Amino acid sequence: MEPKKHQLATLLKPAKEHGIDIKPRQARVIGVFSCKGGVGKTTTTANLAMGLTEKWGARVLTVDANLGAPNLGLHFGELTPKITVHDAIANEMPIEDAILEVQGVKGIFGSIAYEDEVRLVDLRELISPLRKKFKIILVDSAPGIGGEVVAAMKACNEIIIVTDPYVPTIASTLKTFRAAERYKVPILGVVVNRVAGDPFELPMSEIRKALGWPVIGVIPEDKKVREATAAGIPVIRYYPRSKAAKEFERLADAVIERMKK
Ligand SMILES: Nc1ncnc2c1ncn2[C@@H]1O[C@H](COP(=O)(O)OP(=O)(O)O)[C@@H](O)[C@H]1O
Ligand SMILES: [Mg+2]
Repeated sequence: MEPKKHQLATLLKPAKEHGIDIKPRQARVIGVFSCKGGVGKTTTTANLAMGLTEKWGARVLTVDANLGAPNLGLHFGELTPKITVHDAIANEMPIEDAILEVQGVKGIFGSIAYEDEVRLVDLRELISPLRKKFKIILVDSAPGIGGEVVAAMKACNEIIIVTDPYVPTIASTLKTFRAAERYKVPILGVVVNRVAGDPFELPMSEIRKALGWPVIGVIPEDKKVREATAAGIPVIRYYPRSKAAKEFERLADAVIERMKK
């Protein structure tokens, strides 16, 4: 016997009305941090965003959380983004409306021209509505371990720590480890960038020992990276055959591998 129309309508009610509460999948928020500036956080974020977008398509988003001195946009040649994270904070418009697409990569960028003092925002709450739309959200952080950095760290499910192979950087990198420990944010791995193999660099074995954490990427010092930054195109697209580009590709694969765990 065929079920009556009204019985069917009851059956076909949305799951929620049946009392079934299915949580939507939430993006993993992965932040890129380092205590020192200039070690390659933004370069790493931009290349990872592009590498992961190429592998995963539209479900990758990158967000500039360096609200005081944003420059993630510059790495994509986006000098004056028409909508910025600052607009979302100031006008309290939906953060989704600040998503732009540059070179095929989805991102929320900062306003370089922004000169007012940036108030401390709850970044976790700000980006929370984006989590059901993406698989991964890559957050580019400011250097140091000040309030802005802590707010960014608290928004992350896990973080990547970038360092270079020099003693002062390694020493300050330990502070980022401490902050991650304090705020109970797991560390996905360490990226050692700008490795030239000079005798005055700390050897990789010493860096591994000092940090005691898995190194998921070793990126060489490569002039092509600086050229790519100046051109506003991440090196994995600008010079895909360069040594640095190949290592950034490998890093994207390593992140994908770790996300499966
Ligand atoms: N592996 C590398 N080889 C050469 N130059 C690099 C490398 N990584 C980063 N750079 C350059 O260093 C500068 C600072 O990098 P950036 O990513 O902005 O650092 P941070 O975000 O940590 O302050 C940029 O001009 C960039 O092109
Ligand atoms: Mg930066």
